[in-house]
Amino acid sequence: MAGKKSGRRGLSSLEISLIVLFLLMTAVSVALITVLALKWDSEKQEVIPEEPTPSPTVIPPENPYLIGVGRADCTGPVADLPMMGYANTDQVAAGLHTRLFSRAFIVDDGKNRVVFVTADIGMVSQRLRLEVFKELKAKYGDLYRQDNVVMSGTHTHSGVGGYFQYTLFMITSSGYIKPSIEVIVSGIVQSIDIAHRNLRPGRIFMNKGQVDDSNFNRSPHSYMNNPEEERKRYEFNTDKQIVVLKFTDLDGDGIGLLSWFAVHPVSMNYTNLMVSSDNLGYASYAFEQDKNIGFFPGEKGPFVAGFSSSNLGDSSPNIRGPVCINSGEKCDYLNSSCPVGGKKACIAFGPGEDMFESTRIIGENMFKKAKELYTSAKQELHGPVYGAHQWVNMTDETARTCKPALGHSFAAGTIDGGGEFNFLQGNTEGDPFWDGIRDMVLGPPSNETKACHDPKPILLSTGEMNSPLPWHPAIVDVQIMTIGSLAVVAVPGEFTTMSGRRIREAVKKELEVTEAFSNAEIQRYEGASTIFGPHTLSAYIQRYRGLAKAIAQGTIEELPKGPEPPFFTENLFNLVKDPVDDVAPPGTDFGDVVEQVEPLYKVGEVASVTFVSGNPRHSGDIRNMTLVTVERFHNDTDSWEVIHKDASWETRFHWKKGFRGRSQSTVEWHIPQTAQTGTYRIQHFGHFKQTVDNSTVITPYTGTSAVFKVTRSFYYF
Ligand SMILES: *[C@@H]1O[C@H](CO)[C@@H](O)[C@H](O)[C@H]1NC(C)=O
Ligand SMILES: *[C@@H]1O[C@H](CO)[C@@H](O)[C@H](O)[C@H]1NC(C)=O
Ligand SMILES: *[C@@H]1O[C@H](CO)[C@@H](O)[C@H](O)[C@H]1NC(C)=O
Ligand SMILES: *[C@@H]1O[C@H](CO)[C@@H](O)[C@H](O)[C@H]1NC(C)=O
Ligand SMILES: *[C@@H]1O[C@H](CO)[C@@H](O)[C@H](O)[C@H]1NC(C)=O
Ligand SMILES: *[C@@H]1O[C@H](CO)[C@@H](O)[C@H](O)[C@H]1NC(C)=O
Ligand SMILES: *[C@@H]1O[C@H](CO)[C@@H](O)[C@H](O)[C@H]1NC(C)=O
Repeated sequence: MAGKKSGRRGLSSLEISLIVLFLLMTAVSVALITVLALKWDSEKQEVIPEEPTPSPTVIPPENPYLIGVGRADCTGPVADLPMMGYANTDQVAAGLHTRLFSRAFIVDDGKNRVVFVTADIGMVSQRLRLEVFKELKAKYGDLYRQDNVVMSGTHTHSGVGGYFQYTLFMITSSGYIKPSIEVIVSGIVQSIDIAHRNLRPGRIFMNKGQVDDSNFNRSPHSYMNNPEEERKRYEFNTDKQIVVLKFTDLDGDGIGLLSWFAVHPVSMNYTNLMVSSDNLGYASYAFEQDKNIGFFPGEKGPFVAGFSSSNLGDSSPNIRGPVCINSGEKCDYLNSSCPVGGKKACIAFGPGEDMFESTRIIGENMFKKAKELYTSAKQELHGPVYGAHQWVNMTDETARTCKPALGHSFAAGTIDGGGEFNFLQGNTEGDPFWDGIRDMVLGPPSNETKACHDPKPILLSTGEMNSPLPWHPAIVDVQIMTIGSLAVVAVPGEFTTMSGRRIREAVKKELEVTEAFSNAEIQRYEGASTIFGPHTLSAYIQRYRGLAKAIAQGTIEELPKGPEPPFFTENLFNLVKDPVDDVAPPGTDFGDVVEQVEPLYKVGEVASVTFVSGNPRHSGDIRNMTLVTVERFHNDTDSWEVIHKDASWETRFHWKKGFRGRSQSTVEWHIPQTAQTGTYRIQHFGHFKQTVDNSTVITPYTGTSAVFKVTRSFYYF
């Protein structure tokens, strides 16, 4: 059908947002209904923007897509490992608020197949991607490949790291940590397995709308550096558009939702030590809870709702804006700094009273808008699906790119907190490893690299640092996936909003665009925009155009694959020691209550109980267990019914590392207004490790609180 109508539908005016140069990963989507059928043969050809007019009655397509959706837990270790995102060495995981999931969406047009995966993790590193493809290849042969699978991380800053093979990123994660990467790889593959198993004929509808009061530009100064003429074309300096895809079976029953929105999942700030999927994860959680009635969050419920990040490089959810934490005054608008304390003292806060409420509010805003758009979605996607991918050695591009190097903004942090490398502050004095690193760090860039990056002053010449492994990837991947008139542009790293807009504009001539945060090992600050020098963006634009053109002209097969990235097997380092044996203080056992619940709570209050506990790392892979239950007593059957597990928004699991293995776990139940009056208890499940006769013994334990009552009002008592 696409193509029969004139070539002028689609492309509702692109309203992109945008900005600064920091990090970006972008996702934007526009509906170019007929583009693919046009076979663009000239870059000059114009697409006339026009709002698509949805037909009131949708006729089922003759050749429906095959659609599969799947979700799998990818929550790794929740204790004693550095969290990934803020690069703050004090932020070491110590608990669990919400679980992390990988969500996969497969679309097959009868000839070609594409897969989009969004996972609640910091980012999809190159290593992670390579590991996933190794497993997919073993299971599926050539069905799921580099070119037809897009993997994207939501960019939550509250997951643990450890899944990187390049030195800079290993340093911020304390190494390459097997238990961390293995669970993520397995979770991603499982989500694809599930989607693969439930492939069935279905339909896809697209809709777009605006989410208000949920993001703002955190680097207005950099944004203002973009030409005025360019800025004038956009209403906002961040992207407010949310794009949703609604997946249904042939009966019209919804089976999934996939959406993109530009916001950093940093509602949870760096003081948070609990693993959390943050605001985008909350939106998925809320949507799935709304659809999967009667299922525990993330468990067997069939509906899959993926909220994926888009061009969020400079988009903050902390919409109350930056204030000086010492004075409460507003920070300097342009340079985000304070009279006392400089940039570090300038911190942005979210809309809620605390970070949990802020996470919920931003997540809820996305959820509500997505639900409305989902309900009213009428614009059906038709036509073939394509995936095009290339590896690119970015130091070798004709657009005069450089070896990667990080400028000073890399260490300067953002108003959302974090971003400082402690080893640059000299506070790890005396540790030979860190001293060695610092020496390397202070090694000067070559004249060649300096000149190439000019005028950006170089802080770390990561492209010239190769010990013990290269600090930064030279090879990145560029990828575009299309479903009918929708294109998803997967960019390697966090581009700024304006960079995202430019890429989109360039590709728009060929296709419609959704740029999805994905694929590379480029981390914070600056990200992809200037990492390979001032011509980084034009090099990317050239590449994406090439991919788009290949799709539009049907020449994907002829695209050179590009140089394979390395898969390092040696010199990966791990600075994390195995946790010590657990010890229960004299006279106690694991699972004993240290601080008991109150006998009575009112809805809205917090029931809390603390146990003698083991290190949660000793539970190993926690995907098939729950650390927590909240249970309600049924008098008629004399039994306990589990009403919450640890994936619930209402529960919080805090682990407190004690001296020499004497640790405690606190479980909180934030009793919702909807809780029923009744009799309850809380349980905690864990494992403790001991050494017996020189061998390690892991033993499970259970802790159970006293029974307590919950009432809607004290009045009744
Ligand atoms: C930020 O700008 C103010 C003036 O607007 C200036 O006084 C201050 O020194 C600047 N701070 C930094 C860190 O650039
Ligand atoms: C983090 O959020 C908490 C509230 O949940 C707040 O007390 C604290 O000041 C915040 N810290 C930073 C650095 O934003
Ligand atoms: C990338 O290209 C540069 C310049 O040609 C070359 O020196 C380098 O070895 C290449 N990197 C990789 C990882 O292939
Ligand atoms: C780099 O440039 C400086 C200043 O121009 C010069 O003194 C130095 O010799 C150059 N180094 C090399 C290795 O060429
Ligand atoms: C969890 O259980 C399922 C089925 O019960 C099994 O297929 C899967 O391998 C288990 N996963 C882990 C991590 O133990
Ligand atoms: C269960 O019901 C019996 C009879 O109504 C009552 O005496 C008892 O207190 C109830 N137990 C609990 C735990 O509520
Ligand atoms: C434990 O190992 C130590 C040192 O290897 C050895 O001396 C000791 O006999 C071992 N004990 C047992 C019970 O095997």
